[in-house]
Amino acid sequence: MNKIKKLFNVQYPIVQGGMIWASGWRLASAVSNTGGLGLIGAGSMYPDILREHIQKCKKATDKPFGVNIPMLYPNLEEIIQIVIEEEVKIVFTSAGNPKTYTSYLKEKGITVVHVVSSVKFALKAQEAGVDAVVAEGFEAGGHNGRDESTTLTLIPMVKEKINIPLIAAGGIATGSAMYAVMALGADGVQIGSRFVASTEASSHADFKQLIVNAKEGDTHLTLKELAPVRLLKNKFYQDITALYTKGPSVEELKTLLGRARAKRGMFEGDLEEGELEIGQVSGLIHDIKSVADIMLDLISGYRETQIYMSKLTL
Ligand SMILES: Cc1cc2nc3c(=O)[nH]c(=O)nc-3n(C[C@H](O)[C@H](O)[C@H](O)COP(=O)(O)O)c2cc1C
Repeated sequence: MNKIKKLFNVQYPIVQGGMIWASGWRLASAVSNTGGLGLIGAGSMYPDILREHIQKCKKATDKPFGVNIPMLYPNLEEIIQIVIEEEVKIVFTSAGNPKTYTSYLKEKGITVVHVVSSVKFALKAQEAGVDAVVAEGFEAGGHNGRDESTTLTLIPMVKEKINIPLIAAGGIATGSAMYAVMALGADGVQIGSRFVASTEASSHADFKQLIVNAKEGDTHLTLKELAPVRLLKNKFYQDITALYTKGPSVEELKTLLGRARAKRGMFEGDLEEGELEIGQVSGLIHDIKSVADIMLDLISGYRETQIYMSKLTL
C-alpha cells in the first residue's frame, strides 16, 4: 500500500499544504472530505483563532486533517499546546529546526512531518525522528530554501538519502505532475498554489483572480536575506527590486517589508502594496474551482497519464 495513504489513513496521497491567509478550516475540511489530507495553516492565526479553526474543522469532517506550524512565527509554544489540547493527530512543521518539537509531539501520539528544501535538511528531519518529509522545490509558492533546487532534481536526491516516506512539493497542480514526481520516487504530493485558487480558500477573491491571470515568468524568489519567498511581481515586488539596486542592508529590507504585508495582499486584496505569495505553477492555473473539482482533475489527470505512459515506448 502507498506509504502516505497508510501514514495518514487517507484515500489519495495528496496533501493540501498549510498556507498563511489561504488554508483555514473550510479549505482543509474540503480537501479531507474529498480524500486528501487538508492542513490548517497556523502561520497566520492567533492562538485563539487557530483553536476555533480546529474545532470547526472537526465539525466539518470526520476524516483525518492536520495543522501546519511554521516555526518562525510568534506564539509557537502556545500554538503547540493548542494542537495537543485539541487532539490534532497530524502536524506539519516548517521553517525551523525539526529537533525542537518532534519528539515532544510524537510522545503525545502525533504524526509529525517536516518541510525541507534540501537533502541536508531532509537528513536532519529524519534524524529528528519525523514520520515523513515534504521536499519542496524552488518553484513553490511561499517561503523557500536558498539553494534553488528544483523539484525535478530535489526529489530523487532526497530519495537517495532518506528511508522514511517522501512527499514532493513545488510546481504540482496537475495529475501528470503528480505522476512525474511519483515516478521520481515520491510517495505523495503536497499542493499549495492550485488550492489557493479554489472556492474554499480564504484568500481574497482579487488575489485568486490574479493567480488565474498570471503567466510564466510572473513570479520571482526574492528577499533571500530575510526569508526567501516567491512572490507575484506586483508594485510591492517592484519596490523591492528598486531597493536592491541600492545594495540595501537587511534592516532596510525589513523596513520595506514592514508588518502585515502578507495579510494586506493575500487576505485583504491589496494587489499593489501587499505581499502576494504564489508558485511558478500559477502560469498553469486557468480557473478558480471547487476543491472537489480540483481533486477530480488531479485523480483523472494522474490516471490518464498512467495510460499514456503505458503506451509510450522509447
Ligand atoms: C499563499 C501561500 C502561503 C503559504 N504558506 C505556507 C505556510 O504558512 N507554511 C508552509 O509550510 N508552507 C506554506 N506555503 C507553501 C505550501 O504549503 C506548499 O508547500 C507550496 O505551495 C507547494 O508548491 P506549489 O505552490 O507550487 O504547489 C505557502 C504557499 C502559498 C502559495
